[in-house]
Amino acid sequence: MNILDVQNLKTHFFTEAGVVKALEDISFTVEKGCTVGLVGESGSGKSVTAQSVLRIVPKPGKIIGGKILFDGEDLLAKKEDDMRKFRGKKISLIFQDPTSSLNPLFAIGDQLADIVIQHDRVKKDQALEQVIKTLKVARLPDPEQSLGQYPHQFSGGMKQRICIARALLLNPQLLFADEPTTNLDVTIQAQIITLLKDLQRDLGMTLVMITHDMGIVAEMCKCVVVLYAGHVMESGDIETIFEKPHPYTEALLKAVPRLDQTRKLTSIPGNIPNLIDPPSGCVFHPRCQYAINICMEKVPPLEDVGGSHFITCHRWRELQGGR
Ligand SMILES: Nc1ncnc2c1ncn2[C@@H]1O[C@H](COP(=O)(O)OP(=O)(O)OP(=O)(O)O)[C@@H](O)[C@H]1O
Ligand code: SF4
Ligand SMILES: [Mg+2]
Repeated sequence: MNILDVQNLKTHFFTEAGVVKALEDISFTVEKGCTVGLVGESGSGKSVTAQSVLRIVPKPGKIIGGKILFDGEDLLAKKEDDMRKFRGKKISLIFQDPTSSLNPLFAIGDQLADIVIQHDRVKKDQALEQVIKTLKVARLPDPEQSLGQYPHQFSGGMKQRICIARALLLNPQLLFADEPTTNLDVTIQAQIITLLKDLQRDLGMTLVMITHDMGIVAEMCKCVVVLYAGHVMESGDIETIFEKPHPYTEALLKAVPRLDQTRKLTSIPGNIPNLIDPPSGCVFHPRCQYAINICMEKVPPLEDVGGSHFITCHRWRELQGGR
């Protein structure tokens, strides 16, 4: 059963320089209890997709089309007041930058307890108990003693554990983790990945893992959604995608051995397009080694090619015969 069904989502930023078409046509589903990878290079629309689902797209951004069904309910049709019942409680987000997402002026205990108090209208003691319990779940050492400490007193890895605890405080069913290991050193990255994997399994949560790193996807995810320039290039289970990739995914996978220390996908030739004036036809055509005339002229539709594999490419079937 799908917990999330995103259909033709369109989110634009109305900037002075022009309209940034951050999400142009995003459709994918997430099965309950699964870990799904949301991948793509920088600027492909991963964070804006998570922000759109939670309806927290910052100004001058606006969701201008599509449907977002969560457990069958259309989130885009909800009033703002009703939407608050979903944020944090049913759907939660670990933000891309743990440092800036914690308030430097408040002790950890106070800022996390506040979230519980606002949602559950409980007394502070009770809220703090919940905070300690959740910090333990996120494997923060000495949770009781941490309550009175401020964000700057923690290391990057510990801050990320606090952010994970914050995202879990209200027992969400669906968690977006937006590049949760960026800026952490390799050992700490591995610990955070193990923690998220264990939490997903133990709490039966649905996890959408946003990452640049195909290695993380291979290790954690059952399914993957590949984004490029505000479009879904393909989605499906990881075995199928590794075996019969879309030309863009193929380029991403080829980039893996050449990853730098941060394991970011930086080595695909060419640049991501300007989203104010995106390429005609298939948005990937200027960088695609298989591009032909039709690719420049016609936008390929997202097609069901069987086995829960969805592809946006004029030539994918033909390319299966040999590349
Ligand atoms: N506040 C904003 N104002 C204008 N444009 C924005 C804003 N936020 C995002 N965008 C644009 O939307 C597009 C998608 O951005 P998004 O942050 O979703 O990328 P991403 O895939 O998360 O990249 P990264 O891997 O670098 O985090 C980018 O072109 C970006 O410039
Ligand atoms: S539609 Fe054409 S340009 Fe786009 S990915 Fe397929 S072959 Fe490449
Ligand atoms: Mg991002």
